[in-house]
Amino acid sequence: MRTKIVAGNWKMNKNLEETEALLSELSAKIPDTDAHVIVAPTFVNLEAAKRALEASTIEVAAQNMHFAENGAYTGEISADMLMNIGVDTVIIGHSERRSYFGETDDFLAKKVKTAVDKQMKVIFCFGEELEERKSNNHFSVVESQLKNGLFHLDAKAWKHIVLAYEPVWAIGTGETASPEQAQEMHAFIRNTIAKAYNTSVANAVSILYGGSVKPSNATEIFSKPDVDGGLIGGASLNSDDFVAIVKAI
Ligand code: 13P
Repeated sequence: MRTKIVAGNWKMNKNLEETEALLSELSAKIPDTDAHVIVAPTFVNLEAAKRALEASTIEVAAQNMHFAENGAYTGEISADMLMNIGVDTVIIGHSERRSYFGETDDFLAKKVKTAVDKQMKVIFCFGEELEERKSNNHFSVVESQLKNGLFHLDAKAWKHIVLAYEPVWAIGTGETASPEQAQEMHAFIRNTIAKAYNTSVANAVSILYGGSVKPSNATEIFSKPDVDGGLIGGASLNSDDFVAIVKAI
């Protein structure tokens, strides 16, 4: 059985008070579930989030990290800094990092390597842009993002990896991939991993879908056999919506 995961990527939202308020609502409302529930607040509120969730099963993740051990990287955060405050899960490769901050596949591969070397859990994001889907290149784009970002890992390292397929055209747009489109791509991703490694690696990795997941569409998307949960943006900022999505898993 693969781990089911619902993760909230809060992006650049919620100040300290808002973070504490949302986490206290979530702690009270999240149902008993076998799914892993993860929240990723902004860096400055990670420590407060860890404190607020001390008695909760909700995990705290970072939205990014640098690949270097330490040093002259103004404004950056290292893996050790995260682990030092008890954060051992990190989102890497979000499309906003790729497009607004120029993070390339090579750069992301280095981050993945550092995180895995440190025994962190990586939620690795990837997905095609609208033009790439329209021109029917979405499978080759996804294949190359996986290959360039992750296939340097050996099979054993894959226990640290969670995948998040997020078609860029569905992020924050209100437009969702249909459950069939999500399933088709997730099956392709699993198959690509099986070919590069083996079926046990492919069958063990959780593949999340991200892109305008809401309470109204979560059940149908999560019902697909290769969809193991979701990476939620906008709807993770409201406790009722996020709890409803957790209940849909
Ligand atoms: P939305 O759910 O707001 O579309 O964002 C998805 C996302 O980017 C999660 O990482």
